[in-house]
Amino acid sequence: MTAPNDAPRRRHARTLVTSALPYANGEIHLGHLAGAYLPADIYVRYLRLRGEDVLYICGSDEYGVPITLTAEREGITPKELVDRNHASIKKSFAGFGMSFDNFSQTSREIHTETSQTFFKDLHDRDLFRQKTTEQFFSPSQDRFLADRYIEGTCPKCRSENARGDQCESCGSSLDPTELIDPVNAQDGSPLELRETTHWFLPLGDWQKQLEAMFDAHPEWKDNVQQYCRGWFKDGLEDRAVTRDLGWGVPVPLPDHEGKVFYVWFEAPIGYISSTREWAAAQIGQDDQGDPDSWRTWWQSPDTRLIHFIGKDNVFFHAVMFPAMLMAHSEDYVLPENVPANEFLNLEGQKLSTSRGFAVWLPDYLEKFKADPLRYTLARNLPETRDMNFTWEGFLARNNNELGNNFGNLINRVFTFIHKYFEGTVPAWSEADSTDLDRAALAEVEKELENWAAHLERFEVKAAMEAAFRAGQAGNRYFDESAPFKSRKTDLERCAQSLGVIIQILRMLAVMLAPVTPFAMEKLWSWLGMESDLWRGGWDEGRRPIPGGRPLGKPEILFPRLEEEQIREEIDRLQALLGD
Ligand code: 2FM
Ligand code: ZN
Repeated sequence: MTAPNDAPRRRHARTLVTSALPYANGEIHLGHLAGAYLPADIYVRYLRLRGEDVLYICGSDEYGVPITLTAEREGITPKELVDRNHASIKKSFAGFGMSFDNFSQTSREIHTETSQTFFKDLHDRDLFRQKTTEQFFSPSQDRFLADRYIEGTCPKCRSENARGDQCESCGSSLDPTELIDPVNAQDGSPLELRETTHWFLPLGDWQKQLEAMFDAHPEWKDNVQQYCRGWFKDGLEDRAVTRDLGWGVPVPLPDHEGKVFYVWFEAPIGYISSTREWAAAQIGQDDQGDPDSWRTWWQSPDTRLIHFIGKDNVFFHAVMFPAMLMAHSEDYVLPENVPANEFLNLEGQKLSTSRGFAVWLPDYLEKFKADPLRYTLARNLPETRDMNFTWEGFLARNNNELGNNFGNLINRVFTFIHKYFEGTVPAWSEADSTDLDRAALAEVEKELENWAAHLERFEVKAAMEAAFRAGQAGNRYFDESAPFKSRKTDLERCAQSLGVIIQILRMLAVMLAPVTPFAMEKLWSWLGMESDLWRGGWDEGRRPIPGGRPLGKPEILFPRLEEEQIREEIDRLQALLGD
């Protein structure tokens, strides 16, 4: 049997993968998972399977106005709120099988220090501009208000409750000073315009370099290319990097009381802080530990940096943060790719967290296992257009695909071998293969190659289709080679067929491992594989399993789900739609 050719190996030494830092203002829902998290985790697990050096970094994004408001509503401090939400997000992610190497918090000291030092580097080299503008101040709350917390009459359509950043009735984007009779959206109290001074990053100064970065990456996804080319065409403007707020990383300059960094300035630096935190934690676990090892991940030119995000984050990851990295006096790597996903709808409607029209991860995990959701989302990822999640679709994917296509095949083969071959891989050999055997193995090997090639290009959905086809090929082979018949007529032939199917299961274990890791870790051990799946399991996964190897006892990997189990979920969402 010939092993599939290696995809041309890369020249980089390591890959640093990030997923957008989730806001610590609520729970993770399905829309988040399909955007920035699951595809990244699948990609990272794929690289680990390939034995690559990869670091997967994330953390919670804990500053900004919405967090202050939630904390006020709940009568707790913002820090209490984010600590509570961080712990809960971390727990749900773990239950879902997210394999971050580090999951930090932007409210930690290491992030304050990292983002302040970053700011100082640019500030001391005179790369910011300072500007004084007039902004709305709320005397009742003794603070400047962010645009969307200001309300008034829309100058365009006269609707009465337009927000300072946009009018929901006519869709116009607005500047709060354009509103007629602006008031504080929270308590309706009057506002004053007051002068305030802020630091701005003149993005226009970096536009040429940013465009060169895009020119060097024609392979980036169309959505990212199109958004950014549009902004370049309009010309990049100065972006504020500071705000007048109480909850944020303080601006580290004298006479800047009450000023903090704008979240979109410091949150991406959170990737660096989280990497530093990871590096510090390695000491003690590993004699090679070096607190400066984070630099290898961020500053060594043979690192590939990949940011997984949802489409609403494109500007900050493909324009603003790269410009910040370019501006820094130390040489940081620039993103090698920014795979941005479109949005996921739910039962044909847009998700709405304010209306409760969403599926939250902790609720899901109370009732179901992680693998079926990972699989369903991976088969439905909004990679190039918005996609839809339905509970009926989830049930069908679980029962027809995980259960019938994969689970039954695995279960039938293991049960058969335990019953008739004493639980060891039956004697088989490539030399004794029939055309049918060879064709089946070649087909699955081809799909394994397709699978890998798609993942190399971040095409997770297409990779999953290849895995699915490989499962179908396995089932077809089982039916056509019919070991259940040859057992009575030709025991050698029967053994040969089962030997071939074990090879197919070995390749299926590789292809399904990143998407259904909980089940595939079990299958990997039942197959008697010796290597750690996540440290180069790929190599062993492509070597034939010889006859005579003892196999583990199987259990049902993907239990069937019944209609009643999803009924409650559908009813809850339907009731919200009826409102
Ligand atoms: O959109 C969001 O959920 C943001 N919290 C993402 C931040 S990504 C990064 F910059 F930290
Ligand atoms: Zn309007």
